[in-house]
Amino acid sequence: MHLARHLVLIGPMGAGKSTIGRRLARALEAPFRDSDQAIRERTGVEIAHIFDIEGETGFRRREKAMLRELLDEPPGVLATGGGAVLDADNRRLLREHGTVVYLRTSVDEQLRRTGKDKRRPLLQTDDPRARLEALMAERHPLYEEAAHVTVDTDRGTIGQMVHRILAALDESGNDRQHA
Ligand code: S3P
Repeated sequence: MHLARHLVLIGPMGAGKSTIGRRLARALEAPFRDSDQAIRERTGVEIAHIFDIEGETGFRRREKAMLRELLDEPPGVLATGGGAVLDADNRRLLREHGTVVYLRTSVDEQLRRTGKDKRRPLLQTDDPRARLEALMAERHPLYEEAAHVTVDTDRGTIGQMVHRILAALDESGNDRQHA
């Protein structure tokens, strides 16, 4: 299987973008890339450290540059950070260069999966539920705007989610054709 375009995974923290993305890439025998991971490798520090030193603005600048770079690579599966869709250029770019899949997840499930996460700077708050709800209220319309296809990832095994995504792509007529 040769991907004709990138498969871009968007969605909130804890939606499973990295975990599902890695398995999806394996199923498609395509390269897997993860924007946060690429930023960690490039800078040699954790995302939380970038937030501490450069603020969210600095991180968003790095994220935007990294997404451009990764989209210039040969097609593969790309996991983005939960806030990648905040920037209108990013939303346009992701849609232009790829088939965008929104991994939709409830706040309850996000909370369950992110638990006592110390790696995600936006969850270092007394009330992570309130934070996740506020982020979802702001971002859900942006995820919908950016996505070609939406898939629920609240239930099921990773394998089932991968199948669900591939089925949704086939059904929608969005490509994962042989090149
Ligand atoms: C963020 C999500 C994180 C990471 C950063 C900011 C966000 O990625 O990019 O902490 O704004 O939602 P994940 O969605 O992979 O957790």
